[in-house]
Amino acid sequence: MSDFTTHEHDVLVIGAGGAGLRAAIEAAASGVKVGLVCKSLLGKAHTVMAEGGAAAAMGNVDDRDSWKVHFADTMRGGQYLNNPRMAQLHAQEAPERVKELEAWGALFDRTKDGRILQRNFGGHRYPRLAHVGDRTGLEMIRVLQDHGIHQGIDVHMEVTVTKLLLDGGRIAGAFAYDRERGRFRVFKCKAIVIATGGIGRAYEITSNSWEYTGDGQTLAYDAGAELLDMEFVQFHPTGMIWPPSVRGILVTEGVRGEGGVLKNKAGERFMFKDIPENYKNQTADNPEEGWRYTQGDKNARRPPELLTRDHVARCIQREVREGRGSPHGGAFLDIAWIKEKIPGAKEHIKKKLPSMYHQFKQLADIDITETPMEVGPTTHYIMGGVKVDGDTQMSKVPGLFAAGEAAAGLHGANRLGGNSLSDLLVFGKRAGQFAAEFAKKNGNVKVDEAQVSAAAKQALEPFDRQGGENPYTVQQDLQKMMQKLVGIVRQEEEMKQAMGELEKLKARAAKVGAFGNREYNPGWHTALDLRNLLTVSEAITRAAIERKESRGGHFRDDYPNKDAAAAKFNLVIWKGDGGAQQMRREARADIPADLKQIIDDEAKATEVK
Ligand code: FUM
Repeated sequence: MSDFTTHEHDVLVIGAGGAGLRAAIEAAASGVKVGLVCKSLLGKAHTVMAEGGAAAAMGNVDDRDSWKVHFADTMRGGQYLNNPRMAQLHAQEAPERVKELEAWGALFDRTKDGRILQRNFGGHRYPRLAHVGDRTGLEMIRVLQDHGIHQGIDVHMEVTVTKLLLDGGRIAGAFAYDRERGRFRVFKCKAIVIATGGIGRAYEITSNSWEYTGDGQTLAYDAGAELLDMEFVQFHPTGMIWPPSVRGILVTEGVRGEGGVLKNKAGERFMFKDIPENYKNQTADNPEEGWRYTQGDKNARRPPELLTRDHVARCIQREVREGRGSPHGGAFLDIAWIKEKIPGAKEHIKKKLPSMYHQFKQLADIDITETPMEVGPTTHYIMGGVKVDGDTQMSKVPGLFAAGEAAAGLHGANRLGGNSLSDLLVFGKRAGQFAAEFAKKNGNVKVDEAQVSAAAKQALEPFDRQGGENPYTVQQDLQKMMQKLVGIVRQEEEMKQAMGELEKLKARAAKVGAFGNREYNPGWHTALDLRNLLTVSEAITRAAIERKESRGGHFRDDYPNKDAAAAKFNLVIWKGDGGAQQMRREARADIPADLKQIIDDEAKATEVK
């Protein structure tokens, strides 16, 4: 058997972004021994890419807001494929979680009377995003990290988990290697929380950094958990598109929340051309009303730039396809125009959007207080993920929990901006709490040496293929293929072609080689990540073929409308006994009557009279 170091914890949290940190804090607070594994350095997480804020119905800027409105907005945004229990818990608990973060030291922007300031975001009926300029995710990570290090959590940095270990079907630990020296680690534990974030690196253009290769989804799937709603990938409408080296980097929705507008090359506010039926009542039909909304006029309706992300991304793509795009294939996002409206706009923009100001100045030599930005859609988030119980966040595998982007259910077919930061606080806490409870109630586990040996053998296989193909080439080909064939606009034939391409890529991935030795070897790491990328790409494609309608983040040219029958099921994917992916349609239970009533009441309240 290979050499390895053993660590023992009650609860192991895999992933140290917001959800992982919040879970680790909660588990540690309940008195169990907690380990926290990060693929990268502690604090480097996609959480920081949720820049514009955390959605929580505190009603600080508009006291008409309440958890009920937030719940209804989340369900409407998710096009009613959400788990209603999760949407309810999220809306009810988010305010408490945000205030707790403030008590732990988060320095939120303030209202004039000293409360936490909240800004407008797409699909949220009232200003709801608690924020710190455009660096909210960063501040959240800073605070959770500061708080977490005092809780006695053991942090294992630059460690990648490649396999979960089971004891008679329940969680017993994880097999991993450290990325610096390539040495193996075995974590023995009674419960695991998967909080590894998303799958953005399956696509060519993404806001995600190198870590986001679908690791947690694949670990859980391999261990017997199910994946839910994998067809729903979120393409954030505004990523940088120029210069090519920065393509995909996020441009926060906060720009539009502060009054930024989208224009095509003719200078036309094209978002006014296509306002979906179900948002007509909430959306301004003229620029002046939209502007008044962003300035806090409670009788005005939202500008169309603050429609949901799925819709805005498709409108930009339509402009490009029909020849009205910006020079580098996107649209113009203009915040500089507010000079016409408010004195001192330049300083105001710098204060509200400091990161955007510096990002464009440094990376594109553009002063956003003077010049419109060029933006286009970027793969940002996956609504699908590990299927979990809405209250406890436990998957089908006893002792295996998931939270944050790695888990599914809350967001349905489309996530509202800002709901990710509140998601990870609410469900990170819950996952940590219930994982600790599970660990306390369920006695010792045994680590099976045969499973460890098999995991070690599998991890070393790329070294047996010294002449094998370069793993980066396979990764790039996969990303290009997914972008082209399973991207923002999909169709049956292309996706079937994608399934064929995936088989070829799998065969190539099985032959990639790692050169040199185990120390500081990124080629080897990429070879191992490939399995995960291929698993999630296949799940996305398989589910996208099966959903023969357009809904939320999943848009099909060949089925451009919503299908009422398809609103009645979610898609569930699991690993069959022979190792092949299996899929079923899972009928949705009726929304409980009290929650249905809230949705109906809210729809009525925003009806066009
Ligand atoms: O645009 C943004 O600031 C991203 C926020 C989010 O994904 O929630």
